[in-house]
Amino acid sequence: VGRDPLYGAVMDGVRRARPADVEQIVALQVDRNGAEWEGMVRSLLDDPDVGPDRFTVAVDGGRVVSSLCLLSAALRVGGVDVAVGQPEFVATRTDHERRGLVRAQMDLVHRWSAERGDLAQIIAGIPYFYRRFGYEYAIEMPRLRLVDPAVELAMPAGWSVREAVPGDAATVLALQARALAGVDLAGVQDEAWWRWRVGVDHPVRLSLAECDGRVGAVAWIGPGHPAVDGTATAVAGIAHDRLDGLSALLARAAGAGRPVVVEERGTHTAPVEPLSVRLPTHYGLYVRVPDVVALLDRLRPELSARLAASARAGSSGRLVVSTYVSSFVVAYEAGEVVAVTARTPDEAAAERPAAGVPPDLVATLVFGRYGAAGLAERHDDVRLERAADLMATLFPRLRSDVALVL
Ligand SMILES: CC(C)(COP(=O)(O)OP(=O)(O)OC[C@H]1O[C@@H](n2cnc3c(N)ncnc32)[C@H](O)[C@@H]1OP(=O)(O)O)[C@@H](O)C(=O)NCCC(=O)NCCS
Repeated sequence: VGRDPLYGAVMDGVRRARPADVEQIVALQVDRNGAEWEGMVRSLLDDPDVGPDRFTVAVDGGRVVSSLCLLSAALRVGGVDVAVGQPEFVATRTDHERRGLVRAQMDLVHRWSAERGDLAQIIAGIPYFYRRFGYEYAIEMPRLRLVDPAVELAMPAGWSVREAVPGDAATVLALQARALAGVDLAGVQDEAWWRWRVGVDHPVRLSLAECDGRVGAVAWIGPGHPAVDGTATAVAGIAHDRLDGLSALLARAAGAGRPVVVEERGTHTAPVEPLSVRLPTHYGLYVRVPDVVALLDRLRPELSARLAASARAGSSGRLVVSTYVSSFVVAYEAGEVVAVTARTPDEAAAERPAAGVPPDLVATLVFGRYGAAGLAERHDDVRLERAADLMATLFPRLRSDVALVL
């Protein structure tokens, strides 16, 4: 652990957390990430599916000086669910920073994640930092709109807003499904997750708008957003099946007396557009794909569907893609992607690749932030050459809806 030989001598090391570490982990998170996270960290440490087992600690002189955890999440690409690991609650005591403690713990949770079969890892956070651990900004995060302060956001007659309770999970899920219709890449949260999350003590609350006892809209309403430094009330993850429900949520947010910002969500926030301006800030979700061949193999049904919807429907062939450090082959027969395989260096040497994508852009390619063509326009070492149209077919730009809510 750490690259400082003197330091290495006093460190007890990096390991899986134990029940006896719980209070120190909570104290570290409150110190470095903020008191508002205490409820959630405790809830995760109490959760039988998470618990101390999914946390790492770095220990010095018997004291926890750094910690993080690995949550489970899923991304839905077309019709295929991909299990992903989500490192969270990354923190190092100020007097132990910059000694490689997070790097050592990331290595550990990346191993845990691979062992349980995750095909990628996702994380949101500090600009640039996670790139150092193999992450790319592969998925666009929702843009923010600032509602014009001159617009009066009034509660529609008959509507009221309340906080969700665990028993609302099925209703919430049904509204979320509406918002995700037509989306190519989605974050997947099941009913159990919603039930868990609404029971957690955290300032960002899931709010429901209802009229005559029927829920018509749902959103996270919280005291801030990282992009606006907590100076506004943020409304995120809006889903509704009645326009007045949306108005009710906005009215509730405005009731806090601060500017209101709204996270864009396709048609579900389109009615807000005339009342607001899009803020210039934008950000991406970090994604790490340690084995692009394994991920593409999992995505074969989706790749086949893309092929079937193209002019190549029914055709057979092979696409050799170089990542410059290795290469892989996508084989398709009668319009179906039948295999994605890695090439040995010898095999690769004997065959000219049809396209090239550097290894630190493969997640951005597969998760479709720009599509193969858009990626090639942005990066000189993304070479589509002879395979331009096949690459564009297999790796289009994807409409995404992956907000990392915790
Ligand atoms: C961010 C934080 C977790 C880093 O912890 P750390 O133990 O200092 O991280 P490491 O020493 O393992 O850093 C790994 C590498 O990134 C570098 N690094 C550290 N902080 C960095 C930063 N903010 N930006 C860019 N690089 C950084 C380190 O120098 C090291 O480089 P090296 O591998 O070339 O030596 C710690 O500063 C912290 O707790 N901050 C407050 C809480 C927070 O912001 N958490 C993250 C929420 S997403």
